[in-house]
Amino acid sequence: MTVQRGRPRLLFARNFFANPRGVGSVIPSSRRLTQRMMAAVDWTTARTIVEYGPGTGVVTRAVLARMAPEARLFAFETNSEFVAYLQRSIADPRLTVIDGSAETVAAVLAAAGLASCDAAVSSLPFSIMPTRVRLRIVAATAAVLVPGAPFVGYQYSTRWVRELRRAFDHVTVRFEPRNWPPAFVFVARREG
Ligand SMILES: C[S@@+](CC[C@H](N)C(=O)[O-])C[C@H]1O[C@@H](n2cnc3c(N)ncnc32)[C@H](O)[C@@H]1O
Repeated sequence: MTVQRGRPRLLFARNFFANPRGVGSVIPSSRRLTQRMMAAVDWTTARTIVEYGPGTGVVTRAVLARMAPEARLFAFETNSEFVAYLQRSIADPRLTVIDGSAETVAAVLAAAGLASCDAAVSSLPFSIMPTRVRLRIVAATAAVLVPGAPFVGYQYSTRWVRELRRAFDHVTVRFEPRNWPPAFVFVARREG
């Protein structure tokens, strides 16, 4: 994995002020928050991983550092500046950056010849995005994950978590204070 750091924090903040509801946070996730999300995934067995909302790639890099050499990561990002930044700053053949919404996860996996995935890692601002978009992403994720596989992500509010509980059989939510702003990490799994 080749990584160019550039000025990702500045790029991130500029895009937040241009579109606060779309980006959802003024600074990237902390190392503690990222580590807590990574702990939900069994990296020894995960071969197809999807990431939603990579931004400037803090979580993407953590996933790539842990995943198997033969595993694949599909990262969905709607902000074209972040897409371009990720494509030029991370050179790793296991990563495919998708210039599009997480709503398209099933179609993108199908086009790659894949029917399912082993983990979904989200940084999406679910609590402030339109309800219809959130519901589509939650339903699509529940449909593509293999039974028992984790859908992990973070939020600053737990108001919408009941929607997650309708689509998944097991949902846990834990508070992570070592992030700005402090966040709730959720892990959702479906039974077979
Ligand atoms: C809070 S930022 C997270 C960035 C980075 N992963 C981190 O943790 O620091 C949320 C990201 O989600 C992206 N995003 C928002 N809606 C999206 C959607 N429907 N599909 C994919 N990405 C989306 C935004 O453009 C932004 O980059």
